[in-house]
Amino acid sequence: MPDIRLVEELQPPRDPGRRHLIAVSDLTRADVERLLDTARALARSLEREVKKLPTLRGRTVVHLFYEPSTRTLSSFDLAAKRLSADTMALRSAGSSVDKGESLKDTALTLAAYDPDVIVIRHPSIGAPHIVAAATDAHVVNAGDGKHQHPTQALLDLYTMREALGRLDGLHVAIVGDVLHSRVARSLIEALQLVGARSTVVGPPTLIPRGIGAMGCEVATGIEAIAGADVVYVLRMQRERMEAGAAFVPSLREYTALYGITPERVGAGQVVMHPGPMNRGVEIDPRVADSEAALVADQVRSGLVVRMAVLYDLLTTSPVAVAQPLEVA
Ligand code: NCD
Repeated sequence: MPDIRLVEELQPPRDPGRRHLIAVSDLTRADVERLLDTARALARSLEREVKKLPTLRGRTVVHLFYEPSTRTLSSFDLAAKRLSADTMALRSAGSSVDKGESLKDTALTLAAYDPDVIVIRHPSIGAPHIVAAATDAHVVNAGDGKHQHPTQALLDLYTMREALGRLDGLHVAIVGDVLHSRVARSLIEALQLVGARSTVVGPPTLIPRGIGAMGCEVATGIEAIAGADVVYVLRMQRERMEAGAAFVPSLREYTALYGITPERVGAGQVVMHPGPMNRGVEIDPRVADSEAALVADQVRSGLVVRMAVLYDLLTTSPVAVAQPLEVA
């Protein structure tokens, strides 16, 4: 798969006023706070017996997924449905993508249906920009290669704020395969935006050079997690490790040095993981199933945060203040 790297050389979006969520850098602190508050208001609506809101009736949300997904696709799809939008999901397997259709042609085909939002996941960095340039839809990045996954960062902030009551001043240790992780890149930026502190922890081979410039501290010893409020565990991204390149001597050794075991989790610390978990590799099953783990909360947050993102893109104009939600 060619890498669509030269984002700057791509055509600008057709309508510069049309908003997208492609990277955390598209957001200000006020945007993040508004989205998290909207998500919270929407969470209240999910406590009712009838969970559907009419807000996006008549709108169309298309999901275009070129990589496997369980949580992200299901939560975006349910989020759109809970807001009464029509949804359509196209996965690369079984579509004409299998026959070699380019991303641009696939985007142009979907554009013929006039979707309001296209949610895209793709292995190449910059793929969401191609879709933004080829269509009139608002584009939401559901993960592009190892670049960005902004809604994951938002749902993680939401989960932390609900569990710990604050974001400002929080210290999050992000442990593991930072090199291949779009989740880590988005989260570091998002934490910085809201005044939280992050430390990436892992073997030097899995920590990208210069990552400190994104606003995090860097440590190579697992003891660095001791002072953190949150231990955020990353998946070992075996599918992104080029064949033959040895990033760790063995998974067994990685687990011995960096695996999150009950002994390594301090009193009062919470543990998060974006999923899918490699139980017994980066996270001990006893931790994954413990009270300290917020993994199921993260999935629940994913639904309301993605509802908030769709709501915000389709109902708030760039200059307007968010309207109060009708979710009494
Ligand atoms: C992540 C992803 O796909 O980037 N998963 C997710 O969206 N919940 C993390 C991962 O695959 O490790």
